Amino acid sequence: MKAQAQRAIAECRLIATMSEEQGCTTRRFLTPPMHLVHAHLSARMAALGMKVNVDAAGNLRGRWQPAGVRGKRMILGSHIDTVPNAGAFDGVLGVVLALVWVEIAREIELPQPIEVIAFSEEEGVRYGVPFLGSRAVAGCFDQTMLASLDVDGVHMDDAIRGFGLDPAKIGESALDDDVWGFVEIHIEQGPALEAENLPLAVVEGIVGQSRLGLQFTGQANHAGTTPMHLRHDALAAAAEWIVQVESTACKTEGLVATVGKISVEPNAGNVIPACAHVSLDVRHAQDAIRQSAVRELLTMAAIIAKRRGIAFQPSVQLDQPSVPMDAQLTALLAEAVAAASFPLKTIPSGAGHDAMVMATKVPTGMLFLRSPGGISHHPDETVLEADVEAALHVGREFLLLRRTAQLR
Ligand code: HGY
Ligand code: MN
Ligand code: MN
Repeated sequence: MKAQAQRAIAECRLIATMSEEQGCTTRRFLTPPMHLVHAHLSARMAALGMKVNVDAAGNLRGRWQPAGVRGKRMILGSHIDTVPNAGAFDGVLGVVLALVWVEIAREIELPQPIEVIAFSEEEGVRYGVPFLGSRAVAGCFDQTMLASLDVDGVHMDDAIRGFGLDPAKIGESALDDDVWGFVEIHIEQGPALEAENLPLAVVEGIVGQSRLGLQFTGQANHAGTTPMHLRHDALAAAAEWIVQVESTACKTEGLVATVGKISVEPNAGNVIPACAHVSLDVRHAQDAIRQSAVRELLTMAAIIAKRRGIAFQPSVQLDQPSVPMDAQLTALLAEAVAAASFPLKTIPSGAGHDAMVMATKVPTGMLFLRSPGGISHHPDETVLEADVEAALHVGREFLLLRRTAQLR
């Protein structure tokens, strides 16, 4: 398994070079480098005897159908889009390791079909709304999103056509009922496993997340001639609010809140900002606490805007409830971890995953690998070879448990 682990890491690092930008990894929904990733993964799938297709939402899908075997298929996979200037393992590792799990399934002659899905879009970078690929697979793709515009003014449906796909057929991406369950392998993207020096964890649930856009609208004016008391500075209002976002999150156990994006108009050094657009990402394991925090932060923004004679307009992009993983599938993953003689740990996921969308449709579980340095969404994101090897040993035990169950 050591050689397979080494090859998997090398494959992730190779795929990381398939980027929209030279010198860093940025791969948004259905951008040209996605064709390179599809070509690489399709070749790997074909070599494993899998039937390969790309669905209308851009998900690359491989089916391994052992001869003479019927029964509900297992689905494995993760996403292959990235955030800007990303690491090499967020999402992609889950697809690469899924294909190694298929190799193992072939070796042990698993009597269960497997589908591997490389989801086209999970991060929500290009169109502001995440999980586009898994929403299509789970049958909950909102067709009105097709009219969304990206920063270059490209409509989502045109982006899909531009990739050689037909947006009118997105409905055909939805799963049939012939699915046993979905397992996503993913890096933890946080510090928990490293803090306990653990290679792996089984995920008990995924915290809920709210994603919003907020627009502060003041009045542009001359930076030199306008006295301070006569200003309606949209960026100063947003800045005062952003500091309160951080202090509010620090006060609430388990709450995280982030303003990750900001843009200013007219964005000139000698003009008082007329408009500030900011993002807001709020997460907590308990939906009531998350939603109450969002309400509190929006009230703060309205108070600041009123006091400064600024207009303020929020827009909600995502209100994703927290999602527990399937108890039976999670127990099976835990049994496999124990059978592979690794310490058993279950943790919640602070990061969102396609698993939270798939869980609305099929029994879903997740296996985490340690994130050295607890870093992710950053070029320094990495994995330990020994932990990748551990995930392959757990995979073998998991598939052997499935073989026993099927042969009963
Ligand atoms: O933002 C997230 O939680 C995930 O990495 N897309
Ligand atoms: Mn991810
Ligand atoms: Mn991510």
